[in-house]
Amino acid sequence: MSPEENKRSWAEPYKIKMVEPVRMISRQEREKAIEEAGYNTFLLRSRDVYIDLLTDSGTSAMSDRQWAGMMMGDEAYAGSENFYHLEEAIQTYYGYKHVVPTHQGRGAEHIISQLMIKKNDFVPGNMYFTTTKLHQELAGGTFVDVIIDEAHDPEDEHPFKANIDLNKLESLIKNKGAENIPYLSIATSVNMAGGQPISMANLKEVRALTQKYGIPIIHDMTRVAENAYFIKQREEGYADVSIKDIVYEICSLTDGATMSAKKDALVNIGGFLALNDEELFRKAQNMVVIYEGLHTYGGMAGRDMEALAIGISESVDEDHIRARVGQVQYLGQKLIDAGVPIVRPIGSHGVFLDAKKILPHLSQDQLPAQSLAATLYIDAGVRSMERGVVSAGRNPETGEHNYPALELIRLTIPRRVYTQAHMDVVAESVAMVYKNREQVKGLAFDYEPEYLRFFQSRFKQIG
Ligand code: F0G
Repeated sequence: MSPEENKRSWAEPYKIKMVEPVRMISRQEREKAIEEAGYNTFLLRSRDVYIDLLTDSGTSAMSDRQWAGMMMGDEAYAGSENFYHLEEAIQTYYGYKHVVPTHQGRGAEHIISQLMIKKNDFVPGNMYFTTTKLHQELAGGTFVDVIIDEAHDPEDEHPFKANIDLNKLESLIKNKGAENIPYLSIATSVNMAGGQPISMANLKEVRALTQKYGIPIIHDMTRVAENAYFIKQREEGYADVSIKDIVYEICSLTDGATMSAKKDALVNIGGFLALNDEELFRKAQNMVVIYEGLHTYGGMAGRDMEALAIGISESVDEDHIRARVGQVQYLGQKLIDAGVPIVRPIGSHGVFLDAKKILPHLSQDQLPAQSLAATLYIDAGVRSMERGVVSAGRNPETGEHNYPALELIRLTIPRRVYTQAHMDVVAESVAMVYKNREQVKGLAFDYEPEYLRFFQSRFKQIG
């Protein structure tokens, strides 16, 4: 594209065929709703939300082709035709040999963790994800963060903040022994870092290093197409390579993958485990029947698998991915222009507000991000998600809170759902909350469940 063309306005590569009304309740009603929800945005009813940026997971709009695919569901218990379509799509677009369908990403994480991790193992990764890490721990492993230091600094403009620090990785291997490291867990477009990409160059170096020690790589490919978009934009030599080919190349540098298809792959439910190793695949195929369903549906209906097979092909479409990430960049830039501290560079699936910077009067024990999310909801009915100390949970050994360097809230953009005008409303609301930030009070736990506490905890206001 020429520089002039780049500057011209552009719009979404689709038009809207069906609408779902949303409503904004009054401020008084919102105050009541968030109090009843224990100041946890996960516990709000969606009917009370105006613009729902809680997550991009399962919240995207399917295309007319996908909906047509839903009508082609083969709901046979065994050997559904749709499974074979899904298997073919995964082999074609991602290149993995074997497929085990699961109900969503964590189903695949459960199986791979149980199969590969033994007690007292160490699992290095480029920053943690909540469910991934918990499954590694439940299997007896300890997660070790080997992401580059820049990832923990919200202001650092490193273009590939999801890169692995090779020194951290190699010293872990030397200290703990390669035999105690079942695999390296690599995520593309690292969620907890703010939707930041890993570079192809880094992935290749990591591949060479782990191969030297015989350590396989398991890829959390939940947002692989979004990562590929940043590689195309930022990495030398990739400007003219298609998203499809970049995605394929990323996958080819890994041995297997877990996928939450509810993100990149544009479906409301679904996931899979993909593996190249035949023996491991057989074991996973056997295990899936215990926890998910038969190995040709794994917890999905036939129609879900069909929609997913089509969604995979749409996810690597150049116009789609440019508009998808472009919308996130649009919102992020508006917030930067308004002076609001956000994670830089702007991520792929959401804009992450830096709650530590916005609310310096609150200590991390006063749960600044949780409180900021509640405040934002009250202002304009915009629902966001805490990604800070509450999400980080407790250290299983000491029982103390984990205190992550990043104390964020995430404004996550569903794919193909909201318009530019919605983004404008969100930006105005965030700017308003930022202006009145000194009035935001801290929160304390009122109820805390044992696992993945951010989903179900309740809080009370302090001060
Ligand atoms: N890996 C990543 C990077 C994720 O973002 C998620 C889910 C999962 C694995 C687990 O997949 O939900 O299908 O079981 N992330 C959602 C989110 C919940 O809001 O970011 P799942």
